[in-house]
Amino acid sequence: MFEPDPFAGRTAVVTGAAGGIGAALAAELGARGMSVVLADIDELGVTRTAAELRERGVRALGVGVDVSDPESVAALAAASYAEFGSVELLCNNAGVLLFGSVADSSIGDWRWLSSVNVEGMLNCLNAFLPRMVEAGGWRHVMNTASTHAFLPDTANSALYSATKHAVVGITLGLRGELAEEGIGVTLLCPGQAATRILDSQRNRPHSFGRRAGEPFGTGVIPMAIEPREVARAAVDGILRGDPLVFALPEFTRGTFRGQVEEMWRLADNALGDRAESACPVGD
Ligand SMILES: NC(=O)c1ccc[n+]([C@@H]2O[C@H](COP(=O)([O-])OP(=O)(O)OC[C@H]3O[C@@H](n4cnc5c(N)ncnc54)[C@H](O)[C@@H]3O)[C@@H](O)[C@H]2O)c1
Repeated sequence: MFEPDPFAGRTAVVTGAAGGIGAALAAELGARGMSVVLADIDELGVTRTAAELRERGVRALGVGVDVSDPESVAALAAASYAEFGSVELLCNNAGVLLFGSVADSSIGDWRWLSSVNVEGMLNCLNAFLPRMVEAGGWRHVMNTASTHAFLPDTANSALYSATKHAVVGITLGLRGELAEEGIGVTLLCPGQAATRILDSQRNRPHSFGRRAGEPFGTGVIPMAIEPREVARAAVDGILRGDPLVFALPEFTRGTFRGQVEEMWRLADNALGDRAESACPVGD
């Protein structure tokens, strides 16, 4: 549904908004006239980030939530509707990253990654979508995947990449389903943004077992773009109703394009082989 200024007077919920890309998304949406619910497992951090936005004149609410817990997400939805009365934009952005080989990864590593990156997104969709569908008017969902869902070689990030493949699959399916309801859906794929994503295990609950080793360090990603650049690209994409937004440093675009083409080359080769073997020699 096209509207010249769909943000004014409407409300966005952004998960993973204590810092990084989520905080930048919340700031960008607030600057463009939206009320914003900032949600994060880091309750102190998200409360602080929301207070900073309020100081800039944005209607902002900070809420502590564990997106992997359906009850916690239901409480987030209740708090959002109680504060602002409606939710028109849902940004499923909370995510965690873990590097390491498949052989060295524990089932706890996988369960933690998928509980946040995949189930967290599903919990939020389940909690918010029924009321969003009923509401009518301009509405949008944006899910944060990663360029890691498009790489031909995901050695040392296979489990993380697998969760982001799931985000791609669910988001594409959702786009078709929600088109009938007039709700737009955008897949955001950042790559190399300067956030604390390498230090994701700061939020890993003990229930998933021992923390994995940190082969790639815990500092800020080097040679990265600023989260606000990701946020601007994402918000512009939402406004245009784009199905897919990539946000990565300019100098990595060529390499990334080559990697995506390599994926298609692998598929193309496999399809070509099959076509040849289906044609008996001499026909
Ligand atoms: N930074 C990058 O280069 C990059 C690249 C590709 C994709 N991404 C994706 O972008 C999204 C945002 O990550 P970021 O880079 O800003 O990292 P970040 O670590 O700065 O932000 C992630 C936020 O999610 C929160 N979080 C973690 N577990 C949670 C849970 N169970 N419930 C609620 N909140 C939780 C964290 O507290 C944190 O504030 C993630 O989905 C990530 O996978 C980032």
